Amino acid sequence: MDNTDKHAYYIALADKLAETRDLTDEEFLEVLLCDDKEFDSYLAQKARDVREKIYGKEVYLRGLVEFSNYCKNNCRYCGIRRDNRNAQRYRLSEEEIFQCSDMGYDLGFRTIVLQSGEDPYYTDERLVNIVRGIKERHPDCAVTLSIGEREKESYRKLFEAGADRYLLRHETANKEHYEYLHPAEMSFDHRMQCLQDLKDIGFQVGAGMMIGSPGQKTEHLVEDLRFLRKLQPEMVGIGPFIPHHDTEYAALPAGTVEMTLRLLSVIRLMLPEVLLPATTALGTIDPMGREKGILAGANVVMPNLSPSNVRGKYLLYDNKICTGDEAAECIRCMTARVASVGYEVVQKRGDHIKFAK
Ligand code: 5AD
Ligand code: FES
Repeated sequence: MDNTDKHAYYIALADKLAETRDLTDEEFLEVLLCDDKEFDSYLAQKARDVREKIYGKEVYLRGLVEFSNYCKNNCRYCGIRRDNRNAQRYRLSEEEIFQCSDMGYDLGFRTIVLQSGEDPYYTDERLVNIVRGIKERHPDCAVTLSIGEREKESYRKLFEAGADRYLLRHETANKEHYEYLHPAEMSFDHRMQCLQDLKDIGFQVGAGMMIGSPGQKTEHLVEDLRFLRKLQPEMVGIGPFIPHHDTEYAALPAGTVEMTLRLLSVIRLMLPEVLLPATTALGTIDPMGREKGILAGANVVMPNLSPSNVRGKYLLYDNKICTGDEAAECIRCMTARVASVGYEVVQKRGDHIKFAK
């Protein structure tokens, strides 16, 4: 094919994806490997069209409370892995978590995301009290949990306590790749089981993966897309892998902005109703990363609500942005950033359209 034919071929693939929400594995691979800048802008335009049909120009806010960086896991890529002796560990008390959520509420957040390492201190009972407490104070807020793998009974108790959503990235849908990124004590099958359990219980579920993680091949990303299409999660969190200096991957390159944006667009087209954040990691590798993410089809931003004295300690990767800013400053900044690309931050829960009340 000459270049004009090639361009026409890729445009036809984007149109097919927009119309049928699917491509063959070979076609997905071609889309991900394409190095045509004009194709990227065409794909992003399609993704914006689809998202605006469903969610208009709205961008939803999630207030992220990183309440503990203790973790019993040892994921090879992660800065708060158990064996990282240099990580300064902290835990927020129940009272501190409530204070963060109150402050978030006053700032206009209607979703509070509670995120932590897998910290055994937070038993079901403690977590149930925290979730209940937030829901009692702010019945019109959604509570999202992002606290890793647990047993189904535990997930059920948290759901019954009022938690609405759960984020658990699958990290990679390829078992060998999963085993490459994680120590032998972690199980791919268990992670998959957790995602299924969360869905069955009735959570709005978020899966997702890093882009450019060590050992990742483009074929793995095609498997991720296939997996996401099958799972039909309500949220998908993706961001570039970024090396952390205290891990064995310290010297490896980060994932690229281009690949992350392309996947955001493909995921928007494949799952039109999905809630898709422009992540902090994307903002970390490119100062305009989050704005570019919104323009590629993302419709969620997750500013940090953690108290400023612990901000700089929840470091999964190097050079994380916003660690020195107060929550009020982050929300002001995010609102301006979103407006600068023609979208609007709104004070709403921002449920998936199928769960909207
Ligand atoms: N770079 C980018 N993302 C990371 N995560 C963990 N470590 C890194 C890293 N080095 C992501 C994982 C995890 C989420 C909370 O953060 O995908 O699920
Ligand atoms: Fe935190 Fe901009 S979003 S300073």
